[in-house]
Parts: sequence; structure tokens; C-alpha cells
Amino acid sequence: MFVRRIAVVGTGYVGLTTGACLASLGHDVVCADVDAAKVDRLRRGEIDILEPGLAELVAEGIAAGRLSFVLGASAAVRHTEQGPEVVFLCVPTPMGVGGVADLSIVESVLEEVRTALPAGCVVVNKSTVPVGTAERTSELLDRADVAVVSNPEFLREGSAVSDFLNPDRIVVGGSSQDAAERVAALYSRLGAPTVLTDAPSAELVKYAANCFLAMKLSYVNAVAELCDRLGANITDVTEGMGYDKRIGQAFLQPGPGWGGSCLPKDTSAMLQLADAADFEFRLIRATIDTNTRQRQRMVEKVRLAVTGRRGGSLSRKRIALFGLTFKAGTDDLRDSPALAVAALLRQAGAELVGYDPALRPDNPHRDLAAITLVDDPYVAAKDAEAVVILTEWPEFRSLDWAHLAEVAARPTVIDTRNLLDPAVARRGGFEWIGLGKNQPA
Ligand code: UGA
Repeated sequence: MFVRRIAVVGTGYVGLTTGACLASLGHDVVCADVDAAKVDRLRRGEIDILEPGLAELVAEGIAAGRLSFVLGASAAVRHTEQGPEVVFLCVPTPMGVGGVADLSIVESVLEEVRTALPAGCVVVNKSTVPVGTAERTSELLDRADVAVVSNPEFLREGSAVSDFLNPDRIVVGGSSQDAAERVAALYSRLGAPTVLTDAPSAELVKYAANCFLAMKLSYVNAVAELCDRLGANITDVTEGMGYDKRIGQAFLQPGPGWGGSCLPKDTSAMLQLADAADFEFRLIRATIDTNTRQRQRMVEKVRLAVTGRRGGSLSRKRIALFGLTFKAGTDDLRDSPALAVAALLRQAGAELVGYDPALRPDNPHRDLAAITLVDDPYVAAKDAEAVVILTEWPEFRSLDWAHLAEVAARPTVIDTRNLLDPAVARRGGFEWIGLGKNQPA
């Protein structure tokens, strides 16, 4: 295997995971960020995201002299005398006006490094970017001696290191076959199937995959609703579906809606992409609408459980929310379905007390302002009219449900993740309400 000199611009969960994992594969990696304090912390091996195994890899990379951190993209490009052979762009591409991905950070990085890039190097777009960005990147660089390829990432927050080192596939696309092959070779030790293609196809793979996952979840949430209405059990239905290899068991767990920093952004961006290509992608529109409706449906479940009737008032009802992050295993609150449900409950007049194992009560996130955050689930449940499980933290299973029933005003749990064993909750004295378990809202 060739050891390559690699620069990674951006040290968010994608950039830092990419940098640390490529270093662990033997490459020489320098990572850049614009946040000086963060760069200082990273140099000391301190990371500020919850990502299992990442801190260890960063420490190993630093100790082995294969991983370093610098302030600013141009410092990364000038880090060695010869300059990097490959530059990964891992900067944010947030949802901009009208759901279109905002590429201003990518553009400013390109402007910063344009003239300093050594001849023959390859610029890799790893951020999720609209189809056509590789071509636009080439135009902005305006360097015939620098190739641009798209190499989308498929990392899940909370398992990014393991996803990177055990990939289902590597996708690399660009107009230069040689450049695409050089980038694919960086991962050769991982032995994953590799798709070498053109840039637009590689760019579209990422959107098509994330939108498919979102569609799968909206579908399963809709089937769960049908289960509630028809007297069927969603767990058995999805198990029965999932044994079909064409469907698979993964990503069939109903919930309060899908969220996070990727699926909502990418489904919106896909709609825009389609719109710009004069194609009405109704399936994605329905996927998003079903998700919005799912959050409202969770509120109706709470309303029925607490007031005993549809349309009952939640005004001044104290509700305990268990789990606020967008999924378990992360402290990320971006586009969290739990927070969306909380906002709707608040609008309905409920008083909210929240507990999340990954959040401290002094968390400054603005969407937490309407929730009294506590660091003890039993305090959260005290005098509550209902406990609502919104994130699938496994530790909720081993809480003392009998004790929670004692402190709550009404021992009712609305389990929007079907996380608990209903028998355990019931033994503790709780009425357990799940999703797709023959309990219509
Ligand atoms: C997602 C994709 O899974 C990754 O493949 C992709 O690389 C990443 O986006 C990205 O674009 O960077 P992530 O946002 O970390 O990863 O989150 P997921 O694990 O996919 O979960 C997304 C949402 O779906 C969460 O709210 C989660 O709770 C929900 N979900 C997931 C369910 O409700 N049920 C399931 O069965 C699975």
C-alpha cells in the first residue's frame, strides 16, 4: 500500500473520523479547522463529540506522528514541503434558502487553497453536496493540473469509526479515472466493494441512499399506524418483512420520526435537485410529509393517554420526556424528532421536564429553553402525567419502573421507540403505550 500525504479540511464528525481513520490505515494526515481553540484541543488529543473509538484513534495517530492539526485550510496545504497528494473537503454544507445545500464554506475553502495546491493533487468532496458540485469545484479551482473527485461518506453518528473501517462500499467518482483510482486506493486495506464512476453519479449515490433510508422509515411509521388501526403488531410485521433479503431487518424500527443532521437536510436537498431538473419527486415529498405528520401523531398519543379523549387539553399537564437527542449514542440535538415533539407538546400547553443521559441540565441549546432539564430520570418523572420515551437509550430499559410509577402522578408511559419490554413496565405498575401495538391515537 502507498502511504499518501493527505490534508483534511474540517474537523466535524466526518472530517475528524476521516482524518483519524486514514491515519490509522498508515497515511500521513494533517487536519485543518478554522476554530483555533478546537485545533489546540485536538492537538492535545481532546475531542468534543461523542463518537466511540475516535478519541483513541486520534491519540494513536498523534503519538505515531501520522496525525496533526493546523489552523486554517491553507496551513494544511502548506504543511509539508511537497504539499498534499489528496485534499479532503469535509466542511459543513447546511440547508440554505429553500432547502438548497449552502456551499459557501466549500467555496471559501477553495478560494483559500486554490493557488497553493501542488500540481497533480486530487481534491475530494466528502461533504454531501448537490449533483454538479464536483464540476463547479473544478471551475472554481480553475487548475487543469488538479483533479476533483466525489467520494461520499456513509458514516452514522455514534458509529462513525466502525462504519469507516468496515464500509459496505466505497464510492468514488470523477472525470479523471486515474484520480478516482488513487482515491479508492487509500481505502484498499478495507477490502470493501468499490464503485468507480463519474462525479454526478457518485454525488447522487449519497442523496439516493439517504432518501431511501428516510423513505423506509416513513413507510414503517405509516405501517405502524396501520397496525394500530387494524389490530396488528408492528414488531412481528417488520420481522416478517425483514427476512426477505431484498428488504432486510435494518432500519425498520418505528419511532417519533426520523431526524438528525443528515436525513432531513438530504431529503429537502433531493427535492430541490429534482425540482431544478424539472422533475416532481412525489415519493420524497410524501416521505417528508409523513415524517412531519408522525411528530403530530406522537402528540395525539400523549393527548389521548393523558386526557382519555381525542382533542383533550394538555394545558398545564406535566409531561416527562426521556431522551432528547435525535437518536441514542449521540449528544447531537440537530433536527431531533424528540425536540420537534417537545415543541408541539409545549404549543399544546404542556409543562415539560426532560432527562437525557447525554445532556447536562445546563445545556445551552436554544430548543431546550422550554424544557426543564434535569439529570435524574426519577426527578423528571416526579408528578408527571405521562412519561414519553423519545430516544432509544438502552439504559431506560433498566430503570426502576416500579419506583417511577410511585413518583409519577399517572403511571403511563408512551414509548415512541417501542424500547421497553411492556411486561416490565406493566409489572412496575405502568400503562405502556407503544407504536403499532393495536393502540390507536
Ligand atoms: C445517516 C445515514 O444512516 C448514514 O448512512 C449517512 O452517512 C449519514 O446520515 C450522513 O448523511 O452523514 P445519521 O444521521 O447518523 O446517519 O443517523 P441514522 O442512524 O441514519 O438515524 C437517522 C434517524 O432515523 C434518527 O432520528 C433515528 O432515530 C431514526 N431511525 C433510524 C429510526 O427511527 N428507526 C430506525 O430503524 C433507524
